Amino acid sequence: MSSSIQEKILKLKEEKNAIILAHNYQPKEVQEIADFLGDSLELCIKASEIDDKDLVVFCGVDFMAETAYILNPDKKIVIPTLEAECPMAHMLPEEELLKAKEEHPDAGVILYVNSIAEAKQHADTLCTSANAVKVAESLPHDKILFGPDKNLGTHVAAKLDKEIIPVPKDGHCYVHRLFHIEDVELKREQYPNAEIICHPECDIKVQNACDKVMSTGGMLRYIAGSDKEEFVIGTEIDMITRINSEVPGKKLYPLLEGAICETMKLHTLEKILNALVNEEPEVVLHKDIADKSRKAVEHMLNASK
Ligand code: 13P
Ligand code: SF4
Repeated sequence: MSSSIQEKILKLKEEKNAIILAHNYQPKEVQEIADFLGDSLELCIKASEIDDKDLVVFCGVDFMAETAYILNPDKKIVIPTLEAECPMAHMLPEEELLKAKEEHPDAGVILYVNSIAEAKQHADTLCTSANAVKVAESLPHDKILFGPDKNLGTHVAAKLDKEIIPVPKDGHCYVHRLFHIEDVELKREQYPNAEIICHPECDIKVQNACDKVMSTGGMLRYIAGSDKEEFVIGTEIDMITRINSEVPGKKLYPLLEGAICETMKLHTLEKILNALVNEEPEVVLHKDIADKSRKAVEHMLNASK
């Protein structure tokens, strides 16, 4: 780390008693100035433990920063740019979830944390890619409305004897949809000694063709604890940046070079500095929505212990 803007950020962060939380898909220069890096679940847990900080700068997409707000409604949470939205989270509008609930009154409702707060407030619980199976097991229902990610829902359905109903029908992440079975076959030929790991947001056929399926935080822990040397990584490209900086001596290859989450990259160092200087744009939710959604977030945190 060397840029003067990074130094300014670090100095101001200390002066303001701020903490920078960043998702694993942030680019290298942002990962370098973060106090805490993690997957969605790790960020949720960290957000529930930051009582000693006066300001939170959240470098991730909208639903992640909103979850941090839901857990800390009295804290000032800023996001370097409000344009950092997760398109998948917006695929399930509140009305569509309410309609599905009406059609399936006996079903439990699990929403992926990648959902908008207006929808979250109507869920029994949330889940992330790290705990989806455990959370689904924790609900008493045999039938579960699951959204917005159809692929994560299919991943859960394959592991449990419960009926999983996707809502909407085809919610997906445009980045993980880029991976195809042919990419897995090609990498197997290119790197016959490598283990191929993908994220559960990939199509189920891709998941089945890979050796392991896990969350981004799971990938880091798994590779750090593995004796193997070579891995092909089937998720957003900067996950490799994170693993490379923390787990030396491994050879990591992307399943696809072009797997880039564009909105994750909108948090430039300049915008982060601006967010620290001006303490805006602030992440704020309507009190009623935050209060109702908090129950679902807390259910998830308890179920994943
Ligand atoms: P993780 O929780 O595994 O980091 O996934 C979040 C995400 O948005 C993946 O696209
Ligand atoms: Fe959303 Fe996909 Fe980006 Fe994850 S990678 S934040 S699911 S668009």
